Amino acid sequence: MLKLITVQLPSKKAYSYPIYIGTELLAEVHTHLPKQNSTLVIITDDTVKELYANALQQFLNKAGHKTLLLSFSAGEVSKNGQTKNVLEEAMLAEGCDRDSLILAVGGGVVGDLAGFIAATYMRGIDYIQVPTTLLAMLDSSVGGKTSIDTSHGKNLIGAFWQPIMVIADIAVLKTLPQDHLINGLIEAFKMFLTSDAESLAFLDKNLDRILERDEALLTDLVRRAVNIKATVVAKDEKDYSVRAILNLGHTIGHALEQLSEYKLLHGYAVALGLLLEAKIAERMGCLAPQQYLYIKTLLQRLNIRASDLKQFDVEAIIEKTKLDKKKQGDAVHYVLLGNLGRVYEAENQFTHAVSDDRVRCAFIEVVGE
Ligand SMILES: NC(=O)c1ccc[n+]([C@@H]2O[C@H](COP(=O)([O-])OP(=O)(O)OC[C@H]3O[C@@H](n4cnc5c(N)ncnc54)[C@H](O)[C@@H]3O)[C@@H](O)[C@H]2O)c1
Repeated sequence: MLKLITVQLPSKKAYSYPIYIGTELLAEVHTHLPKQNSTLVIITDDTVKELYANALQQFLNKAGHKTLLLSFSAGEVSKNGQTKNVLEEAMLAEGCDRDSLILAVGGGVVGDLAGFIAATYMRGIDYIQVPTTLLAMLDSSVGGKTSIDTSHGKNLIGAFWQPIMVIADIAVLKTLPQDHLINGLIEAFKMFLTSDAESLAFLDKNLDRILERDEALLTDLVRRAVNIKATVVAKDEKDYSVRAILNLGHTIGHALEQLSEYKLLHGYAVALGLLLEAKIAERMGCLAPQQYLYIKTLLQRLNIRASDLKQFDVEAIIEKTKLDKKKQGDAVHYVLLGNLGRVYEAENQFTHAVSDDRVRCAFIEVVGE
């Protein structure tokens, strides 16, 4: 006889976490640690180790914590299963147990990799994101997407595993190379375009001083972007509906990234994606021509120009968009802008089918301007 037993779990525990944004926070990380942990495992890359993680380890040791610092070669090439395995073996060899706490100190590569280790080490341990690039502060450290790359593509293996806290110390941005600052700024620009016209005006007004790394303005910028990301993630943690809006510019952006064999920084690829997708929205009557022009002009101030698209073949771009995860049936779906600070929504959908021909025509128009 067939018997049915249901596993009754308590309703999913609500979890939320604080995000600290400010300056000189690294020296006070120990004051925010939630409970006594057996070992604090600092995972970082070799660049950030020398710049900040060694000092952080000393602060934590002085505060009486047992620490273990593990680092790997900086860069996307390290975000793979092999590095994950080496780091996990080192943690096991040092006797790290379920009460160990990981501190992911670095950019998005460190955050994604260390977060994924936290998700799987002894079936899941706590971790704190301590982002050190602008992109990681305002985007990748919040939302719990953790992953590694594979030979089949980026971020294909991973887990949703939320950090217990995020500590963003704006002071560390002073050493960030300028192209990585712009890389993060483009993600902020994208977020403001999707949801926040007031923050868009803030960015527009203060862009020059932000590029000169005014710390108060950078703090404000990160706070504004994180607010958007946190709101979207709270509504749709696992990326089934509204979280899709954060993919604005990414359908084309991902295609360009792949075609450049990842030589183009993610943010720059997304910037060109924003431009082309804004033109598509304009041609579909969702966005007014002067709004497209606004986007184009702001990107020019970041030295990103329509002519940068000329190095790509539009047919190759179209081909690559067919691998996009938002594809439904044969149609590639795009997030389209409906205004500056708002995405276009129809029938409660945040993504919309766009024909290859529309992409082709928009591309020809943009590069011809
Ligand atoms: N999880 C998510 O939601 C999410 C979102 C967006 C991007 N990502 C991932 O993030 C990664 C990209 O992150 P990234 O752009 O931060 O790259 P990154 O982590 O490779 O950092 C860029 C470079 O800056 C260096 N660096 C970091 N902080 C520094 C500082 N303060 N001063 C000087 N140098 C510093 C690093 O050593 C590295 O060489 C990608 O793997 C991407 O897939 C994840």
